Amino acid sequence: MRGEICVPGDKSISHRALIFAALAIGESRISGMLEGEDVLATAGALRAMGATIERQSDGEWRVHGVGVGGLLQPAGALDMGNSGTSTRLLMGLVASHGISATFIGDSSLSRRPMERVTAPLSAMGADFTVSPGTTLPIMMRGLCPAVPIRYRLPVASAQVKSAILLAGLNTPGVTTIVEPVPTRDHTERMLRGFGAPIEITEENGERIIRLQGECDLAPQSLEVPGDPSSAAFFIVAALIVAGSDLTIGNVGMNDTRTGLITVLRSMGGSIEELNRREVGGEPVADLRVRHSALRGTSVDPALAPSMIDEFPALFVAASVAQGRTITSGLEELRVKESDRLSVMAAALKIAGADVAETPDGLTIDGTGGEPLRGTPADGEPCVTHLDHRIAMSMAVAGLFSRNGVAIDDTRPIATSFPTFMPLLNQATSQGSTA
Ligand code: S3P
Repeated sequence: MRGEICVPGDKSISHRALIFAALAIGESRISGMLEGEDVLATAGALRAMGATIERQSDGEWRVHGVGVGGLLQPAGALDMGNSGTSTRLLMGLVASHGISATFIGDSSLSRRPMERVTAPLSAMGADFTVSPGTTLPIMMRGLCPAVPIRYRLPVASAQVKSAILLAGLNTPGVTTIVEPVPTRDHTERMLRGFGAPIEITEENGERIIRLQGECDLAPQSLEVPGDPSSAAFFIVAALIVAGSDLTIGNVGMNDTRTGLITVLRSMGGSIEELNRREVGGEPVADLRVRHSALRGTSVDPALAPSMIDEFPALFVAASVAQGRTITSGLEELRVKESDRLSVMAAALKIAGADVAETPDGLTIDGTGGEPLRGTPADGEPCVTHLDHRIAMSMAVAGLFSRNGVAIDDTRPIATSFPTFMPLLNQATSQGSTA
């Protein structure tokens, strides 16, 4: 893994940029937008509710918003594909409009719990008809004017926080969120950037977010920084593949997202931050990552929210580290695009890793810097269960294995990182010519 690459735009920020631009009055311009299927699902739904959204060229988009409160009744069901973020954020948006909408998705999304958003949004006045287990398909009717709430997040979830804030935008009065454990704060940063009256304080170690509703949003020109969750696969690949020296440009370094870097450094990983700067109101740096002898570690569960999407990649690093890595407090991983504890345990075992699954984590005994065996000649491929991050993590495991790793389905990668394979080929072929 050598040379320089740039990862595509941040998925969380791309969703939010489209949503806030769709609520501003006038034209916003977005550059560096992630053009993955999840973000396209958000764009499609916003168009169905009246926003004008146009792609100008690679990553360059223009949005004409309808104004806060201006969303229209969508004509058909909103197909969210694989995207939990689209579903939960847009449910928040619909909740305080006098419109109804039906949300549908693929088989992975249709298994994921939605009660965490339907409960607070019901308290604001929205009405839901749900499938068993509070899953999709879900029909909902928003209420306008909705009722402002004060809500203490029972799970550390930026999606739930954002859904309530989005509902609060078109709600009279002050919507208040109490966040006992901080989660990614892109929604708050962007609300402020679009001119919304939002106030964030800390009381008794908890974050309190107050949003004054029924405000206007002013259109913006914004640049989306590179996605640290996509960079994660290249960081781990460069750390474990011998001879690597890879620079990954323009990586978002918001400290609600950088837990993986903290943990990998504590394992002995050489990750150097160059050229720290600000892009689109977010801290960004170029990361120089060099092959390193990794040691196992016990991961502090308090770091989980800041690396919640990065555990599959960390499990791969742990599989080839020296000694034991213990993770715990990761129940949330069971309700991501797949059950990432059991699916990663099964996939890594196929690749020859020494993994034990516990109710809330994985315990992994690493190879001590030796490559994994990889998929046996007569073995079955790893099963990705429509989960992009499983596919990419196991591709990285394959790079440092004797047989290579077989994966049943790489199509889900397009949900978050459509250029993953070309970039991986670029980084590895730069290595062979260096
Ligand atoms: C996201 C929040 C996280 C994360 C997801 C994106 C967001 O989900 O796993 O990939 O953009 O708000 P949770 O809110 O369920 O933790």
